[in-house]
Amino acid sequence: MDKSKVTAIVLAAGKGKRMNSSLAKQFLMLHQRPILYYSLKAFEESSVDEIVLVTGEDQVVYCRENIVKQYKIGKVSQIIVGGSERYDSVYKALLAVEKSDYVLIHDGARPFISKDLIENVILQVKTHRACILGTPVKETIKVINTDGYIAASPDRSTLWNAQTPQAFEYETIKKAYTIFNQDKDRDRNKMTDDAMIYETYLNQPVKMLLGDYRNIKITTPEDLAIAEALIDDLLC
Ligand code: CTP
Ligand code: MG
Repeated sequence: MDKSKVTAIVLAAGKGKRMNSSLAKQFLMLHQRPILYYSLKAFEESSVDEIVLVTGEDQVVYCRENIVKQYKIGKVSQIIVGGSERYDSVYKALLAVEKSDYVLIHDGARPFISKDLIENVILQVKTHRACILGTPVKETIKVINTDGYIAASPDRSTLWNAQTPQAFEYETIKKAYTIFNQDKDRDRNKMTDDAMIYETYLNQPVKMLLGDYRNIKITTPEDLAIAEALIDDLLC
């Protein structure tokens, strides 16, 4: 039997600037439950062994009392305080994980992650060492220059949207993040996901797995209307 330990890191320490709401988007209500509840519930019901929840300093008590205790998310072993950028939050969580064979890093702002997709990511990371979910882009993507003119039109058949969870061998992704943190020339702001840090600092392959178009990241106000429609669809 495979006894390897799998830890999920669920990120909920962002401020949600693009959402323009006073309450951080991961705590907005969707069908009477906070958005963050849904991904925690999916990991709780999966074969993940442990969940490390990362949130803001002022939100630790709310997370513990109103989400973890209230909805009995028993796999949450730690609720830690994140950092100012997503990669700071991830690094803090990686350091807080005591021992694990694999980690799955997930945006708490993606409530529609399913247990089946989580199970596939766990299965695949054991073969590929690093893998992420994504979907082929539907629209033509343009690269623009600083003047706002089109600089390139990459071949759409090679382009995918990256989603989470993103899964890695624990020691390997920790090493990538440690090197990244020590890099004085790092162009930090461009590191918008974990795979980028892994690719850039370790130069090792990351397998792309087919995710689900419903696994959206709630980012701007119009995503809330989409989320309401998706949750109605799931619940009926
Ligand atoms: N996140 C985090 N710590 C940060 C920044 C982001 O844990 N310092 C989390 C968010 O809570 C979210 C996920 O990372 O679940 C993806 O980030 P994003 O969608 O960019 O969320 P925000 O940073 O909150 O939003 P914005 O960029 O619009 O401010
Ligand atoms: Mg952000």
